[in-house]
Amino acid sequence: MSQLKLSKDSWSSQTVFIMAAIGSAVGLGNIWKFPYITGENGGGAFVLVYLACVLLIGLPVLISEIALGRSGKANPIQGMANLARENGASKLWVLLGFNGVLAGALILSFYTVIAGWAFAYFFQSLFGVFDRITATEVGAHFDHLLANPYELIFWHTFVTVVTVLIVSRGVKSGLEKAINFMMPGLLFILLVLLGYSTTTGSFGQSFDFLFSADFSKLTWESVLVAMGHAFFTLSIGLGTMMVYGSYLSQEYSIVKASLWIAFADTAVALLAGLVIFSIVFANGLEASSGPGLLFQTLPIAFSQMTAGWFFGTLFFALVVMAALSSSISLIEPIVSWFDQNWGIKRVKAACILGFIIWFVGFGTVLSFNEWQDIHFIGERTFFESLDLITTNIMLPLGGFLMTIFVAWVMRSKEREKQIELSTNKMKLFLFVLKWISPVAVMVVFASNLVAGEIAIAMLGVAFLMYAFYAWNVSRKI
Ligand code: PHE
Repeated sequence: MSQLKLSKDSWSSQTVFIMAAIGSAVGLGNIWKFPYITGENGGGAFVLVYLACVLLIGLPVLISEIALGRSGKANPIQGMANLARENGASKLWVLLGFNGVLAGALILSFYTVIAGWAFAYFFQSLFGVFDRITATEVGAHFDHLLANPYELIFWHTFVTVVTVLIVSRGVKSGLEKAINFMMPGLLFILLVLLGYSTTTGSFGQSFDFLFSADFSKLTWESVLVAMGHAFFTLSIGLGTMMVYGSYLSQEYSIVKASLWIAFADTAVALLAGLVIFSIVFANGLEASSGPGLLFQTLPIAFSQMTAGWFFGTLFFALVVMAALSSSISLIEPIVSWFDQNWGIKRVKAACILGFIIWFVGFGTVLSFNEWQDIHFIGERTFFESLDLITTNIMLPLGGFLMTIFVAWVMRSKEREKQIELSTNKMKLFLFVLKWISPVAVMVVFASNLVAGEIAIAMLGVAFLMYAFYAWNVSRKI
């Protein structure tokens, strides 16, 4: 036991932990990604599948991941090594940690590019670019931004540097402060926008689009996207919640915290969706216009509403902050691994990683201009391929392995110590963890195989083989 490496930092209270976890969960995934993938995948039926995934897969994985973190008491890689040893399982479980660390870095490489767009919009809004702008002009403005790789690289660099600076300062001083006023601010402004959207005349249509399900529009690939998004939006499957859990003291309730995180995250996404689609329908825009949806709609609202300049600038400032509190959580697993296992100090670790991520991010920048016709996986651009591999494959795979570990490998005494539930609720939880969540992940992967999405399927199968290998070995020991 003496050589176990343990986390030294800890949260100053349960509320601070919940706020930081919500800060990680609520980000571009809710405000930018959820609306645009919902638009691309036809609305209601997709939303329903996504909500089912949050409840039946996301929530159990979230609880499991925080529990693994608090029990393993370290970064995802070392934490899994600690857990494997304590529970008499194979060392191969560290692969789960590596999968997450890699996914986190890759996701961050495109996350900073998109956060860069929000940064650009913040300054433009501040300088009045969106005052009295028409719907057509808003579209052209966005296309203009995307067409210029140098401008995109400038903003991407800006966000990467800010992320590195915050991460360098450490969990407590870096994270705790910003989050306390950011979340209430974001909620406030979303409510203001919700008020505006009821005046557009298309609120009802937006509501119907999000909540009336037409399953004929759903494909297995949409189901994969919905499931992947449940992981992405809750920040699970890659170890973020594991590191955050490793800083959590024993007396706090993981189940209660998880319920709050899932609730807040889902509420923000649905609010953002309602607002954005009201603007889409009121202005005759395309719901399926893709990653630009947020940026092509909201400026229209700000140009029309009272005090639009003020609300617009504030809104983009908050989007940037929401993005930053998520981006720092994406590299926290790696930074803490560098720190705890390799003795590389935070500042240095953050700089090295920042550089690599910045470089990989060029691929995403170019996907929207110079490389837009270059395809990587299937018909997908670099950005779309990266999103597919990380969000839709690596995260569900990571989550799948976490449920397997907590349900089958972890000693029940330790499990009950971490996840405090009454006997009946524990039975239900374990049933879901053993038979629903992992099976659902496998079914979605397998269906994509049957549906003939060969590239996705091959990746899925390869990962599943590796998952089973790790599991099988762990049982023998
Ligand atoms: N949950 C964040 C969002 O929705 C993204 C994220 C994913 C952050 C995974 C950390 C880990 O924007």
